[in-house]
Amino acid sequence: MTEKDFIPKPYTKTLENGSFTWSSPSNIALVKYWGKREHQIPENPSVSFTLDHCKTITTLSFSKKESNAAFSFDVFLDGEQKDDFKPKIETFFKRIESYLPFLSEYHFKIETSNTFPHSSGIASSASGMSALALCLMSVEKELIGTISEVYFIQKASFLARLGSGSACRSLEGDLIVWGIHDEIDGSSDLYGVKYPYDVHQNFKNYQDTILLVDKGEKQVSSTVGHNLMFGHPFAQQRFEQAHENLSKLKAIFKEGNLDEFIKIVESEALTLHAMMMTSMPYFILMKPNTLEIINKIWAYRSETNSKVCFTLDAGANVHVLYPENEKDNVLKFIESELVVYCQNGHYISDQIGFGAKLIVNNL
Ligand code: PMV
Repeated sequence: MTEKDFIPKPYTKTLENGSFTWSSPSNIALVKYWGKREHQIPENPSVSFTLDHCKTITTLSFSKKESNAAFSFDVFLDGEQKDDFKPKIETFFKRIESYLPFLSEYHFKIETSNTFPHSSGIASSASGMSALALCLMSVEKELIGTISEVYFIQKASFLARLGSGSACRSLEGDLIVWGIHDEIDGSSDLYGVKYPYDVHQNFKNYQDTILLVDKGEKQVSSTVGHNLMFGHPFAQQRFEQAHENLSKLKAIFKEGNLDEFIKIVESEALTLHAMMMTSMPYFILMKPNTLEIINKIWAYRSETNSKVCFTLDAGANVHVLYPENEKDNVLKFIESELVVYCQNGHYISDQIGFGAKLIVNNL
């Protein structure tokens, strides 16, 4: 598939008004995407677990308008009008207009809510942009008449990517690859694909408890962060390393070797942060409590032989990953030793999920 394959033929159906509601989850990368080219093309492939409980629910209502001159939409978060969200959506609409030519023909009302608190430090861009892309695809599906399920998801992922790169990995589950990799059939820079090979039982229902160390706004926005990779002295080695780590993970997913899994996942998290520490300007996105948690996890692992490990996003919060059969023990450990490092003792228990769902089709 190329970009051109996502430009639709003239629509044959008409549609006056209606609404769709989709829920779409967040995801957590195991091999990280950090660095992009023009048009949100990733510099390296990434792979993520789709989450289950952390999600955005978006209702898109649409009604035909008189003039096609400009985009027209209102945005609401938890019922409250959010004009400060509009520039991001306006930019998104501009980027995707050639793929969804109906955008300027309707007035849209976008009503969105997250299952996780807005001020949790958990980025809502992946779940939010994927939910919105899916709502828009539901409209296009009606205007075209029939489209295959495969095309629907591929194009929704393609559109979500243009909103926020990692959003293209949120539509399906439970493991999604985005970015061309020689050893992963069907992988694409344009959209996320389901990991196409067998995955060992050890990874089924993998758990992710998110420790909210810092609930503030992101210190470094994704856009600024990705741009730090331009001219970064270690960028090329990092991009190659991501390819190698994904190759290694392929064998690990098959064989279920959790010790090797831990090595890749923790190294990827620390490398992401190392890239930010060694860029110009430089940033430290971990907080003292992030390091306290990492050290406690390492100590617990060596004392108990547990397979618990951590990963990080571009922030201070810690994702604690562990197999389902360790759930009771690890939750006890988290409650007794890690919760003290969370802001107001807050954490979110999540696990691997299977992607977005159409909740309401109101035509
Ligand atoms: O999707 P963006 O542009 O917000 O970038 C997300 C990058 C990381 O979350 C740090 C890594 C990843 O692959 O999700």
